[in-house]
Amino acid sequence: MRAIILYDSHTAGGSTDKLIDSIGAELAKNGAYVEKAKCKATGDYNFIQDFDVVIMGAPIYYLLVSSQLLGALIQSNLKQNLKRKKIALFLTCGSPEPMATLLYLPQLKMHLVRNRILAEKIFSPQQLSDPEAIESFAEELSENYKRDTRRRNASMQWTDEALDLLDAVPSFFRNRIKIATEEYAEEMGYREITLEIIEEAKAETGGL
Ligand SMILES: Cc1cc2nc3c(=O)[nH]c(=O)nc-3n(C[C@H](O)[C@H](O)[C@H](O)COP(=O)(O)O)c2cc1C
Repeated sequence: MRAIILYDSHTAGGSTDKLIDSIGAELAKNGAYVEKAKCKATGDYNFIQDFDVVIMGAPIYYLLVSSQLLGALIQSNLKQNLKRKKIALFLTCGSPEPMATLLYLPQLKMHLVRNRILAEKIFSPQQLSDPEAIESFAEELSENYKRDTRRRNASMQWTDEALDLLDAVPSFFRNRIKIATEEYAEEMGYREITLEIIEEAKAETGGL
């Protein structure tokens, strides 16, 4: 699994910075390749096409999710690039979890209604350096990603011609193309991947 942590915080070296490093380290222990990127409301997010999972997280300031992450979802090409991406969400805040779930998480989730959310977590100030809380978030994310992949592999058939074409792709690129094509086929309700569907997926996903 290739994961990117897209985050925002007003505080360099603050609690969110430390938390994302811990989440990244925990996911890496489970075999994931993880990068992090700080959000800019007007950034260019085409690079997230290189990742299977997008983990988004930020603190709450004055009742709102930190502005650069929220801004990126509204102003930039982030939402467009999140199409068909698997997502995980986390927030850091001082409010009790029920309040945060009701008031703050929807600020992100309203932009992600068509995405599969693998895991979501509100980190209270006490949990920010609690290895168990971080481990359980990373574990849930990794397990759900693996379960989705197994389910997709079990249900998706490739025709011989489609497999021949896949085999002709350089090996370092093959798995990404396989995943992107299967995810596209799954979303479209196809059960068998043919040459035509590979072409269709290529056109729809911008070449991946
Ligand atoms: C200026 C400021 C405003 C905050 N407003 C809220 C808030 O409205 N609701 C809340 O639950 N937590 C609030 N918090 C708590 C932060 O979300 C929490 O401390 C978070 O971990 C800070 O992350 P950081 O260290 O990366 O800045 C606020 C913190 C600060 C400094």
